[in-house]
Amino acid sequence: MSRLIVVSNRVSAPRQGRSGGEGGLASAVLDALRQEGGIWFGWSGKVTEHEPSAPDIFDVGRLTYATLDLSERDHEEYYNGFANRSIWPLFHYRLDLAEFNRRYLAGYQRVNALFANKLMPLLRDDDRVWVHDYHLIPMAEQLRQHGCHQKIGFFLHIPWPATEVLLALPSHRTLVRAICAYDLVGFQTESDRENFAEYVVKELGGTDLGGGRIEIFGKTVKTGAYPISIDAEGLARMAEEAATSRQSQRLRESVRDRDLIIGVDRLDYSKGLVARVETFEHLLKAYPSNRGRVVFLQIAPPSRSDVPEYMQIRRELESIYGRVNSTYAEFDWTPIRYLNKGFSRRMLTGFFRAASIGLVTPLRDGMNLVAKEYVASQEPENPGVLVLSRFAGAALEMDGAVIVNPYDVEGVAEALQEALAMPLDERKDRWSRMFEHLKTHDITRWRRDYLTALAETE
Ligand code: G6P
Repeated sequence: MSRLIVVSNRVSAPRQGRSGGEGGLASAVLDALRQEGGIWFGWSGKVTEHEPSAPDIFDVGRLTYATLDLSERDHEEYYNGFANRSIWPLFHYRLDLAEFNRRYLAGYQRVNALFANKLMPLLRDDDRVWVHDYHLIPMAEQLRQHGCHQKIGFFLHIPWPATEVLLALPSHRTLVRAICAYDLVGFQTESDRENFAEYVVKELGGTDLGGGRIEIFGKTVKTGAYPISIDAEGLARMAEEAATSRQSQRLRESVRDRDLIIGVDRLDYSKGLVARVETFEHLLKAYPSNRGRVVFLQIAPPSRSDVPEYMQIRRELESIYGRVNSTYAEFDWTPIRYLNKGFSRRMLTGFFRAASIGLVTPLRDGMNLVAKEYVASQEPENPGVLVLSRFAGAALEMDGAVIVNPYDVEGVAEALQEALAMPLDERKDRWSRMFEHLKTHDITRWRRDYLTALAETE
């Protein structure tokens, strides 16, 4: 059987040491690769003075890891620069935070060329290559230039923006031309896919052939929506066990008979953390009976800490959490627990199970697996309520969630108030709809659907 070669910037390698803040890509790809076996190629997470000469290759079970260090300059221009100061803010509709310059673009292209160059000697004739996320859009173009003839697929974990937003990127044509070198381009949702197709048709003169096929640059590119997911049943079992762990018990004892609202996010401005704490503040202000009765636990492991916009959001959050706690805390109750560190997935499932509400309110998010993990972790006889932003890809699937507009602070507070009072029957009904969906639309299905479509490309 042909091998699967996964390429992503972030690799969840055991040697790398996990911070807990590695995001949805690493956990989902790890789940998929564990089932399929193959090679995982990407950045080692280390920054060195000079460019590496060869990847570090090692096996763990059925998985081979091949990782490269990045030089300081590459890390700065490719990762901190083009990936996380140009594409990330732009694709999350934060034009105000985006920074564009040619040095970043050159670094981005240089690292993609470097990755392609180091990957080529590892490839066999019948391998399938699956490239992930916005860091590596030009990989296929680079691999083809090196003579790669194998099938190459791409999956974008973040949103694809509306054309009017994408046009602000000075190199939008270069980027889209590069993406068209893939055999299959996968998106999280149909609306991301439509945005992409619209750009190709309107701006590049491509033809939409229907069925996800787009004709452009004298070839046909296949596109599709493949919503990423979780191992729902595995996670449900994990949560059941984790609920009896010492840490979960300690959490429950500390919360006592109060309601726990939980948020778990990388510390990122796209996650809507500032508006979320304002919402919680409004919940205490507008509905005073919640004072002393509700605890908000926000877990936010630091992310991309060298990037100025991330330093700024961290400072902003520290001050706002401090303000709300000092306004409302009592000698025996602290309203917000704000933790700047990560926890293992196992421990999180136990925490999710202890929480009456999972509060997931990103301003824009490709999918958001925390929403799905919260649902899978619930106790079937007494499930909590998912309060979910309409701007997360997950909102299209999680129809039992209370869907909110994260910009509407008062509206979300009202939704929280309703969720806190929701009767058991309604909670069960909403939860079982979502859990049934997750059981059939799980990580195995995501991987299978994508790889089947890749195999079917001409
Ligand atoms: C998001 C991105 C991933 C990224 C993750 C963590 O989920 O889609 O590509 O790996 O965030 O961010 P980091 O910059 O630490 O890899």
